[in-house]
Amino acid sequence: MVQDRAEKYLIYWYSQSGNSWVCAERAKSTLERCSANVPLCESMLKEIKKISPDESQVESQDEKKADFLILVFPVYNFDLPVVVENFIRKLISLQSQLLPKKAYAIITKGGMEANTPWNLKKILRSYNIELIDYCSLAVEDSYIPLRKWFGFALKKGLPNEKTLMKVDKFINDICCSRSRSKSKSRIPNRRIILFNPFSIFHWIGKFSKNFGPKSLLGKRSWDKEKCVNCELCIKACPVNAISITLASAESEKKFINNYDYNYDYEKCIGCCGCLNLCPTNSWTSENFHPKYYYKPSHYKNFVKIIKF
Ligand SMILES: Cc1cc2nc3c(=O)[nH]c(=O)nc-3n(C[C@H](O)[C@H](O)[C@H](O)COP(=O)(O)O)c2cc1C
Ligand code: SF4
Ligand code: SF4
Repeated sequence: MVQDRAEKYLIYWYSQSGNSWVCAERAKSTLERCSANVPLCESMLKEIKKISPDESQVESQDEKKADFLILVFPVYNFDLPVVVENFIRKLISLQSQLLPKKAYAIITKGGMEANTPWNLKKILRSYNIELIDYCSLAVEDSYIPLRKWFGFALKKGLPNEKTLMKVDKFINDICCSRSRSKSKSRIPNRRIILFNPFSIFHWIGKFSKNFGPKSLLGKRSWDKEKCVNCELCIKACPVNAISITLASAESEKKFINNYDYNYDYEKCIGCCGCLNLCPTNSWTSENFHPKYYYKPSHYKNFVKIIKF
């Protein structure tokens, strides 16, 4: 069947240490090689700041109308990160008329995605969006406690070219199955039994979603001497738990060391972003030495994306 126009895909990604971002960028370039149109490959955190409930703005974003949505994000605590779930709900409530009714997901994980695809499918279905298929990619784990305690067992140096070829295959499958008008979905029809409400894993996942990651990280401290005031930690924090206090006017901060960075334990969700991303390890956790922080090979490129 010959198509009269290129299919249009919107890609939204959430990434704290760049693994998912690398995969999102690869998905974009592979789709473009398959002659698809990808007008947007954007950070969920940046996108949600850009959009507003303003009706006139929705009309002016008409070019965003697409055929498919691709969501790229990591597994946190056997589930979608709360930030991703919030993004989906907010995006749909603000732009439901623009959004495609069919979606795909690319999920990065340290080892176990558990019921993440199933949960994503459920959330999307409640807004009449069908999750057609997903792929999960085992990459290096960014969760600092795990890196300390199970570092010996973790995959190292990923995502690499081999991982990215799996992204290529997934995207090629999407494009091919569409032209053949059939697709074999990998999404399970029901919850994995190990993670059902009667299982201890289910409750570890549920409770640790908000409390486990940050409490395991322990007391956080900021070293004024090391900090270069790059504001990366502020930009990277998905829940605005880091703020800056200035002793005097904004213009003076470049010349005088008169600022303090503050961390709000109540808001923090323990994503490890500030610890992993700080270029000088000014943020440290009392329980974990910086040698366990995740600075992958894509670190420098990813930091540029976060900053601007
Ligand atoms: C707070 C936290 C919780 C995590 N929980 C899981 C998990 O339950 N299962 C898993 O396989 N990986 C887990 N991971 C590992 C990440 O999913 C994995 O490293 C991912 O690629 C990180 O993506 P990013 O670099 O795009 O942020 C967790 C990581 C963090 C920071
Ligand atoms: S303050 Fe908490 S939520 Fe914010 S980046 Fe750091 S670990 Fe993540
Ligand atoms: S990322 Fe590190 S160096 Fe940059 S402002 Fe935050 S604490 Fe300072």
